Amino acid sequence: MTSWDAFYDETERQGPSLLLARAINLAGNLSVARQAVDLGCGAGKEAQQLMQSGWDVLAVDNEPEAITRTIANCSGGHAGMLTTCLSDFECLPALPRSNLIHAGLALPFCRPKSFKQLWNQVLHALEPGGVFVGHFFGPQHGWSTFTHLTFHSELDIRRMCEEMEVNLLRETQIMIQTPSGPLNWHRFDLITQKP
Ligand SMILES: C[S@@+](CC[C@H](N)C(=O)[O-])C[C@H]1O[C@@H](n2cnc3c(N)ncnc32)[C@H](O)[C@@H]1O
Repeated sequence: MTSWDAFYDETERQGPSLLLARAINLAGNLSVARQAVDLGCGAGKEAQQLMQSGWDVLAVDNEPEAITRTIANCSGGHAGMLTTCLSDFECLPALPRSNLIHAGLALPFCRPKSFKQLWNQVLHALEPGGVFVGHFFGPQHGWSTFTHLTFHSELDIRRMCEEMEVNLLRETQIMIQTPSGPLNWHRFDLITQKP
């Protein structure tokens, strides 16, 4: 059992990500497989969505259970190929040249002192025309006192994307109920493309 098991169970019951679908459309319809990376792949639902759309996927997570579930959920009959990497974001090996990098609810879990290096790896790995899609936690997030997590304001995100074209930057802030009480959920959804 990992602390993520309940989250993985929940995501395995969900349908495809609309945010990722939009990014896939932006990156272009595929006649041949192209390279994608899924950072913090969890149960592998988005890796599966990418492979069903014809992408080869490198799925990265630091939880062995995430890698096991991703391999199971991505087995059989998909157009793309899966490679996995068990690694912390904080010491990630070089990423392959990629046309799409997805990080769903994952990058906030990178330690703040390592975030800049991780983001630079993302930017460096993207091919011209390549798309990044993912989430960030905002400064009003209820977990913002947790010093091991990374939070970004809209201005921070725009600065991180200075050399990119921002296709979508959407802010949500809602109060959610968790087993330990109400939590302010402050999130940014980002889709950005390398010129
Ligand atoms: C909230 S889950 C999101 C999973 C998946 N992307 C989704 O949206 O369903 C965050 C994932 O990031 C992974 N993770 C958290 N911190 C990490 C780190 N420092 N390095 C690598 N993976 C990490 C967790 O194991 C977990 O699978």
